[in-house]
Amino acid sequence: MIIIASHNGAIGMDAAMQVLTSGGSALDAVEIGTRLVEANPADHSVGYNGYPNILGELELDASIMDGRTLDSGAVALMRGFPYAISVARQVMERRLPHVLLAGAGAERFAREIDAEAWQTMLSDDIVALWRRRLRESGSVPDPSELDADAPLIDAVSIATDPERVTGTVNFIAIDSNGDIASAVSTSGWAWKYPGRIGDSPIIGAGNYADNRYGACACTGMGEMAIRACTAYSVVAYLKAGMPVETAARRAMQDLRDLGGDYIGGMNLIALDREGNHAGMSTRADATYLMRRADMERHVELERQVVEIPGRWAGRTSPGN
Ligand code: GLY
Repeated sequence: MIIIASHNGAIGMDAAMQVLTSGGSALDAVEIGTRLVEANPADHSVGYNGYPNILGELELDASIMDGRTLDSGAVALMRGFPYAISVARQVMERRLPHVLLAGAGAERFAREIDAEAWQTMLSDDIVALWRRRLRESGSVPDPSELDADAPLIDAVSIATDPERVTGTVNFIAIDSNGDIASAVSTSGWAWKYPGRIGDSPIIGAGNYADNRYGACACTGMGEMAIRACTAYSVVAYLKAGMPVETAARRAMQDLRDLGGDYIGGMNLIALDREGNHAGMSTRADATYLMRRADMERHVELERQVVEIPGRWAGRTSPGN
């Protein structure tokens, strides 16, 4: 039994391991670990009190995948429900013939299953920070005047904050049956264009798990992972017989080969079916967490660095 997670998953590691050691499933472990991060007001990249979009609205993305069956569930752009990962899991488990629900549909579904809803999803501090950032960027005259018809194309490219874009939490676990599950949850880019969906709810981009080979989950600039199908790529490289470190490095190199303007910080964690793991990042100081069932506490491990030159390279500062 083993769990790996992004650095900001520390708050959920004990609870996730408790699930595994008491005979629970990898799916339960990754869900519980992720929920604790989603409820953490100090984490501004995931769940409650994440950085909002340019209109000051918090839109959450999340996905969960069951490596036994490749069943998956995901939500995107969901407002008002802090535990996006649990809603994603219900999309998978409620016999809905769908994998991904977005926006009003995701919120309707969350209401229908009685998911926990919170009236307030942002602290006053984060609302004040959003206002200040927009004012300082000069992208809009007055943040409170942003309405349904306000032009946002230029504003968002000035205001979107590369120092705050990447956060996101990843959990991957193997349980006592050898089953693998993976979970990813995020509030996405700070001050993003309304409706922007990152890699986290896209199966194959930010999240993938397959019992036969292993799993991978990403944090960082989701646009890149979507374009390179990063999480699936790692699992496909495992399927091709590569060791987990080689597979993870190869997928990072695929990201490095992407062209275009929006190239920057990316991170991934990967676990093969034997419990071998790897963490990769474009940043030199990035870490990830690992705990086996016989360990008292998780350890924090350095990620290997694969440099990706680009406009925002090395400038992202995720909590992972
Ligand atoms: N990796 C999270 C996002 O881009 O939204």
